[in-house]
Amino acid sequence: MHVVLSVGGSSINPKGEPDLGFLTSLAKLIKKSKNKFGILTGGGSIARVYAKAARALGASEYEADSIAITSTKQNAQLVIAALRNAGIDVYPKLINDFEEARGLLNKVVVMGGTIPGITTDTDAVLLGEAIGATRLVNISNVDAIYDSDPRVNKSAKRYSKMSYEQLISLATSSDKRKAGTHFVFDLLACKLIARSKMEAHFVSGKSEKEIENAIEGKKHNGTVVI
Ligand code: UTP
Repeated sequence: MHVVLSVGGSSINPKGEPDLGFLTSLAKLIKKSKNKFGILTGGGSIARVYAKAARALGASEYEADSIAITSTKQNAQLVIAALRNAGIDVYPKLINDFEEARGLLNKVVVMGGTIPGITTDTDAVLLGEAIGATRLVNISNVDAIYDSDPRVNKSAKRYSKMSYEQLISLATSSDKRKAGTHFVFDLLACKLIARSKMEAHFVSGKSEKEIENAIEGKKHNGTVVI
């Protein structure tokens, strides 16, 4: 089957420096799996820092987004290098649009962001639709979906399973549409997984086992949206 991975920039580059351990273990899991993959990388803190600096210099939101997209592509290139280094049959070039991803025969294709105004969550679902993925795995610094930010609200409710409607309602309340802002999962992305009935898994990038279980559709400690 085809699986699409939305890999948060927060997992690829958690502290201003790429996490080689994370990239290596992701490559290991992909090599082991019988599935085919589309990977969409986020920009993380680097994207946010650059978008903020651009805005401070009078750049438009369009320009701030464009700069942030460059960070997502930088991360995509690192993922390609990590997969190639592990001997995986990855398409060697960074893909820039969804059409290009269709019909590629490699085990893995990798993309960064595409157009200003959306996020890599949305790009991930579109890539999934383009390659015919039936499962999406969101890998980030959040271990599951909560009804409010668990870093702010200690009694936030954690979901192990939820419906598309519940996810859409949570995403609606946190949608600010600004470069580098944090959503649970972008509202548009939530609507797209609902229309395609993609089985969506939300897991922490800190645990290799969690990622593996989500990729293979097995039980994990994150959230499953169906
Ligand atoms: P993301 O917000 O999707 O990546 O893209 P992230 O920061 O890695 O996600 P998390 O926070 O770890 O989950 C970073 C920024 O790049 C721009 C947006 O400004 C977005 O906030 N972007 C990304 C676009 O404008 N278009 C795209 O297609 C992708």
